[in-house]
Amino acid sequence: MKNLLLLLLALPGAVFATEPALRAEIVAASAPEVAAIRRAGEKATAALSQRLLAELTVALGTGGPENAVDFCHLQVPALTKPQAADQPEIVAVKRTSRRLRNAANAPDAAEQLALRHVEEQLARGEPPPALFVQRIETEGSPTPEWRVYRSVVVQPACLACHGPSDQLPAVLRDALHERYPKDAATGYRTGDWRGLIRATVRPVAAVPAS
Ligand code: HEC
Repeated sequence: MKNLLLLLLALPGAVFATEPALRAEIVAASAPEVAAIRRAGEKATAALSQRLLAELTVALGTGGPENAVDFCHLQVPALTKPQAADQPEIVAVKRTSRRLRNAANAPDAAEQLALRHVEEQLARGEPPPALFVQRIETEGSPTPEWRVYRSVVVQPACLACHGPSDQLPAVLRDALHERYPKDAATGYRTGDWRGLIRATVRPVAAVPAS
C-alpha cells in the first residue's frame, strides 16, 4: 500500500494523486474560498520562520555554535507545536525537506506532492513559490484538510549549519555529526531552496466558539 502510494507520487508531473487513500491538489491561492485559509497559514508560517531565525541568532550569539545546535535539536520540535491561543485555526505546523537532517521531519504523502510542486517550478527555471495552498481528501474523512506551505530559502545565517560540510566550522560539524549521523542537510548555498514550512489550517467556521 505504502509502496503503491510512493509509486504514484513518483509519477512525473503529478500534482494530483488519485491513490484511493489520499487525493491532494494545489489550489489557486487567489480562489476566494481559500483566502481566509491562506491568510491564516501565511501568518502562522511567517511567525514560525521569524521566530526560528530570531532564536537561532540569539542562541548562536550567546552560547556559541554548539549551544545553537542544541537549541535546534531540542527547542525546534516544541516551537512547531501549534500556537493555539494566538491562532486557534492552526492545527499543526511542521518543517520538511527533500534533504533531511532529522528524519522526524520527513515528508508525509501530501508533503511529498507539495515538494514535487516546487521542484516542478524549479525545473522550469522559476523561483520557488513563496506560498501555496493544498487541499487534501483522505478516505474515511468527511472534511478535507487544508494546508498552507511556505518555501524556505537558504540565507547566509543558515550556512554555518547547512553550508558545504567542508566549510562548516569544525565545532559545529562535530556537534551536528554526533546528533545527526545521517545528516543530509548540508551542501546548501545562499538562495537555494531548502524545503517547506507547512501549516494545517482548520476553516474558521469549524473553529468551536470558546
Ligand atoms: C546552529 C545550527 C543551525 C543553523 C544556523 C540553522 N539550522 Fe536548520 N537545522 C539545524 C538542526 C540541528 C536541525 C534539525 C532540527 C530538528 O531536530 O528538527 C535543522 C533542521 C532544519 C530544517 C528541517 C528539515 C530537516 O532537515 O530536518 C529546515 C527546513 C532548516 N533547518 C532550515 C534552516 C534555515 C532556513 C536556516 C537559516 C535561516 C537554518 N536552518 C539555520 C541546525 C541549524
